[in-house]
Amino acid sequence: MNKVALITGVTGQDGSYLAEFLLKKGYQVHGVKRRSSSFNTDRIEHIYEDPHIEKRNFILHYGDMTDSMNLTKIIKDVEPDEIYNLAAMSHVHVSFDVPEYVADTDAVGALRILEAIRLLNLTDKTKIYQASTSELFGKVQETPQNEKTPFNPRSPYAVAKMYAYWITVNYREAYNIFASNGILFNHESPVRGETFVTRKITRAASKIVLGLQDKLYVGNLDAERDWGHAKDYVKAMWMILQAKKADDWVVSTGKSTSVREFLKLAFSCVGVELSFVGKGINERGLVVSCKNPKYQLEIGKEVVVIDSNYFRPTEVDFLIGDSSKIRKELAWKPEYTLDQIVKEMMASDIKLMQKDQYLQKGGFDIKNYF
Ligand code: NAP
Ligand code: GDD
Repeated sequence: MNKVALITGVTGQDGSYLAEFLLKKGYQVHGVKRRSSSFNTDRIEHIYEDPHIEKRNFILHYGDMTDSMNLTKIIKDVEPDEIYNLAAMSHVHVSFDVPEYVADTDAVGALRILEAIRLLNLTDKTKIYQASTSELFGKVQETPQNEKTPFNPRSPYAVAKMYAYWITVNYREAYNIFASNGILFNHESPVRGETFVTRKITRAASKIVLGLQDKLYVGNLDAERDWGHAKDYVKAMWMILQAKKADDWVVSTGKSTSVREFLKLAFSCVGVELSFVGKGINERGLVVSCKNPKYQLEIGKEVVVIDSNYFRPTEVDFLIGDSSKIRKELAWKPEYTLDQIVKEMMASDIKLMQKDQYLQKGGFDIKNYF
């Protein structure tokens, strides 16, 4: 019998990579997607199976983390061996605008899943992975951060995720559920949400060199993150549920890079060298050289500017993870370097924007034509 997995947040960056990964391993994969007024399934189009196919391995269910009855019914129908709870309002800055919604989705949502497992008497059958985050470390108490580092959350998102973390630990201890937290540091990819800083940069750099955008407005250039690739991190999620016992695990690369450095890397992938001048809110990124004859960028052109609207009321300045535990006990290690991640993201966005450029010049998209 194939193992059965249920993924909440299957339409997201991680959900889509994880679904692909589990399907390759022979799982039957069920995903929870929410209703939206336009298609939200772009990331899973390549693995989508039409409901009319008789024996499907990839099945979608409408659902929402704020609806206990719906979640309980899905879990009852699917009886999963493994649940990956990835659904969340995952944008830290936006969480300051919708704090109550974030608490409902990210915090109580996790409780709803755990409670469903308990009420349905699935405690011995169903393992659960909770998508915890390095944002829990917030204003960090030690460097690098590991499983024992105290939490100090700095946003409504991180506070909600802190509840989800502890309720997962509590259900493990109280009801002996195989419930584990993956404390994942930032991970990126070509399908990263467009408003997270890495994707915002690779999209803008692509548009700027193609002449489709003048400049990029960003916030805190000094922030440093431990950036890995989503593909490596979904593998870690699966490994965490294959461990001998439920536990909590830090997943990270162990290298940290600033937003400013990420910007330089992204532009350098297309032959453009940037230099930063000025201080604080007046800092700007200028083109120093453009080695690629395909792109006509003026030397000295201002392409990066600070906009204080992108600063957060409370910031997480610096994160770097110590993932020795998962490396030692589960033999996980990241395959991708940051250079490879940036190159992959830039290549994908250049391709995407070239299509936009073509359409803007009056070309047509064959997909829209038929
Ligand atoms: P993402 O791309 O933003 O995906 C979030 C997913 O959750 C989407 O499928 C979204 O649906 C769904 N969702 C949001 N609110 C929902 C609701 N009320 N009910 C049902 N589904 C809902 O996030 P990600 O980067 O893949 O991250 C996956 C998880 O890991 C999240 O819990 C995130 O907080 C956590 N995490 C991420 C990172 C990272 O660096 N990526 C690091 C640590 C932890 P729509 O597609 O309809 O919006
Ligand atoms: N989004 C964004 N936009 N961030 C910016 C910008 C900007 O224009 N300019 C600077 N930054 C800085 C932010 O202030 C932050 O310090 C850093 O870039 C990274 O921001 P994001 O890419 O939005 O990610 P995040 O670190 O806040 O949160 C992501 O990683 C967490 C794991 O640590 C999300 O994926 C969370 O869901 C995840 O838990």
